[in-house]
Amino acid sequence: MIINAYPKINLGLDILKKRDDGYHEIDTLMISVGGVHDTLDITPATTKGCSLQIDGLGINCSADRNLVVKAWMLMRERYNIPGVNMRLEKRIPFGAGLGGGSADAAAAIKGINTLFELGLSHEEMVELAARLGSDVPFFINGEPMYCRGRGEILAPAEVDLQGLWCVITKPDFEISTPEAYAGVTPHLPALPLERRIRLPREQWQDAIVNDFEASLFPRYSILPNIKRELQRRGALYASLSGSGSAMYGLFESQPDYKPIYVGEQVFVCKL
Ligand code: C5P
Repeated sequence: MIINAYPKINLGLDILKKRDDGYHEIDTLMISVGGVHDTLDITPATTKGCSLQIDGLGINCSADRNLVVKAWMLMRERYNIPGVNMRLEKRIPFGAGLGGGSADAAAAIKGINTLFELGLSHEEMVELAARLGSDVPFFINGEPMYCRGRGEILAPAEVDLQGLWCVITKPDFEISTPEAYAGVTPHLPALPLERRIRLPREQWQDAIVNDFEASLFPRYSILPNIKRELQRRGALYASLSGSGSAMYGLFESQPDYKPIYVGEQVFVCKL
């Protein structure tokens, strides 16, 4: 059973308040993008456990802490499923705010559901996903969604992305999500994100922000430089994705963006 896992970008990310459980209340529009993807191959094992082989990008995470293994463990507890062998081909940069690990976790839930014919509904898979991470529920179906609460409360989004191209650019460093949240100052926006997304695209850049930029841009000067370069190359909207370090630009026509830094990785897709 082979499943592709695609990354996401955040079109706007409002950090509204810090909660008593340590998480932050957010409002963000997540959009699934192409240009790069991970591939997860799951096969039933003759043994009871779960093995994981990771190829591609080296990640500094032990196999038993990987979310695809945690997904299998959670589903074994609930549904008594057999052991599996998994092979994960990592291509989505990590520490990038692209949700690669979360996309892999959702791919594992969907793959195991299909492989063992568990017949789980979309809602049941979303509930499992929320136990693995705030972002994981979005990746169960991958349609544009407002993600609220700590990110796990989903509402379908009407957003006009027709004809847009997306350039994702990942500089040669990573940012950890807890570190990024530690630097933010939560606040309420004048207008909810959903209202601002409904503005004509030409007004998005002035109206829609990722609240992580305020604290991360002064710390990592490469990020605002990349944003300016995306705009200079014609992006109608450029922003940090999630908690970074990846930036992206949306373009009305096939973009011409060349990396400006050593080690900057660039991915392009049509939305
Ligand atoms: O849910 P997840 O494991 O992806 O979150 C990783 C960390 O990011 C949390 O432990 C927390 O520090 C931070 N976080 C947060 N508010 C959110 C999501 C994540 O503070 N809405």
